[in-house]
Amino acid sequence: MSNRVLVTGAAGYIGSHTVVELVKAGYEVVGVDDFANSTPDVLKGISSILGFEIPFVEADCSDMSSFSRVFEAYPDIDAAIHFAAFKAVGESVLKPVEYFRNNLMSLVNLIDLMRSRESGNIVFSSSCTVYGEPDEGALPISETARTKPALSPYGRTKQMCEDMLKDSVRAYGNIKVTALRYFNPIGAHPSALIGELPVGVPQNLVPYITQTAAGLRKELSIFGDDYDTPDGTCIRDYIYVCDLAKAHVRAVDRMLGADGERYELFNLGTGTGVSVLELVNEFKRVTGVDLPYKFAPRREGDIVKVWADASKANKILGWKADTPLGDVLLSAWNWEKKIRNL
Ligand code: NAD
Ligand code: WQD
Repeated sequence: MSNRVLVTGAAGYIGSHTVVELVKAGYEVVGVDDFANSTPDVLKGISSILGFEIPFVEADCSDMSSFSRVFEAYPDIDAAIHFAAFKAVGESVLKPVEYFRNNLMSLVNLIDLMRSRESGNIVFSSSCTVYGEPDEGALPISETARTKPALSPYGRTKQMCEDMLKDSVRAYGNIKVTALRYFNPIGAHPSALIGELPVGVPQNLVPYITQTAAGLRKELSIFGDDYDTPDGTCIRDYIYVCDLAKAHVRAVDRMLGADGERYELFNLGTGTGVSVLELVNEFKRVTGVDLPYKFAPRREGDIVKVWADASKANKILGWKADTPLGDVLLSAWNWEKKIRNL
């Protein structure tokens, strides 16, 4: 075994933090990205943290001729963590073909490239979106809960990818898969050298908050204040991106250690639900920054409340997301200040 881990989408938000944790844990990596939703500057941030440049190939995973070059240049890959995908729910409704082509073809190509190798270990980025709105009494939601019909083409690609991986495990004896269903990743590396860089107006809550606090947006709109929750706002499980990154290291450790079943599935969340209003108040408390907000109509398609039963990952991966929410929000704010030169 060479200890070499391929990271697709390495310049992305979660990929960049995972590269850092993999290297810290002693892995050799090779990163791949086509910069569809990131920039080469992210690689500079990673280098500044690590003190050296990681092996990297600019390639499009949905294009076999481009993607296969990575395996030619690095024949010693033992495991792949597959982050590369498009992830904007609203955009996927308008551009389903682009989402199917990128998210499905990238995975088809990865499986195709891995199936003839000695080691075919794949860690896949899935999402809590596959659960839809949990049934009454199903919270915290566990991996055994049934998945619901996807509400968007993006969500459908995650469900289809999980199914494609299950079929591939059945068909190809060397393929081993760990599917990780992330809840809501937030925050930035403590160095503030890498973080989340949304293009245009942020669709997600925390980047919208930090951009509002930085003065780029007038005010935050809280979508809905009359939900059936204690304060009327929606509830999510916000997980620190560095904690999330560490779970990937544990998943690779487990696969390379030849432990576990050939297809395994884990929820990655904190296990605690936090409402939009609670998160806003915590942001104000830890940063001391005023955050103008107003209540706005509900956002179409929003889940009312979902948080993870992460006990399987806690027990089997020996991992826990335990960074306090206040510290996580502070890391997001420090990153925003850094990129805006505040
Ligand atoms: P991101 O957009 O920041 O990172 C994805 C990276 O993949 C980008 O750098 C992009 O340029 C690259 N990429 C996209 N298509 C590519 C291709 N064909 N070839 C090479 N590179 C390509 O997204 P992220 O937040 O880091 O998400 C990573 C993964 O986690 C995605 O699969 C996403 O669906 C999944 N996920 C994200 C969240 C979240 O809230 N961020 C939640 C659940 C699951
Ligand atoms: C969180 C809460 C909003 C913005 C999305 C994807 C999901 C997964 C994670 C990839 C909700 C509220 C938001 C704003 C607000 N990604 N909100 N004002 O919707 O849980 O999940 O990211 O797999 O698939 O759908 O995250 O950050 O968009 O919203 O009030 O300006 O914040 O209504 O309650 P969400 P989010």
